[in-house]
Amino acid sequence: MTQEPKRINHLGIAVKSLEEGLAVWRDGLGLKVAKYVEMPEKGLKIAVLPCGETMIELLAPLGDNSEIQAFLDKRGGGLHHVCLEVADIVQATAHASAHGLALLGQAPTIGAEGLPVRFAHPKSTAGALVEWLETAPRDDGARD
Ligand code: CO
Repeated sequence: MTQEPKRINHLGIAVKSLEEGLAVWRDGLGLKVAKYVEMPEKGLKIAVLPCGETMIELLAPLGDNSEIQAFLDKRGGGLHHVCLEVADIVQATAHASAHGLALLGQAPTIGAEGLPVRFAHPKSTAGALVEWLETAPRDDGARD
């Protein structure tokens, strides 16, 4: 039985620089920065801003080979991906794959949150890049 995703963990927003993103999301919209994360292997500098139970993650390029550079060149920034939090990423991605979604990579990797993540190609998701993130089950309810 496939479990429903628990919530939207975060929205990834591509920005040309963190300064540009923070001027909007922190200064203009009033969110607070919880932390900054650098992922040199992906060419990303990230600012994490909680909004209730969901985070806004501002993704800015770091270095010359950023994985968001092509997106920025094409669109100038904006909503980059939607991250669904699931209890079992292997099960959730296998279920999606069985329904025609194209998974990126061979297996989950460790994302900016320090937890297993995996993406589905936007060509297979009606245009929205989807990320799954696995978190341990919460202790407020029984698992199926
Ligand atoms: Co993400």
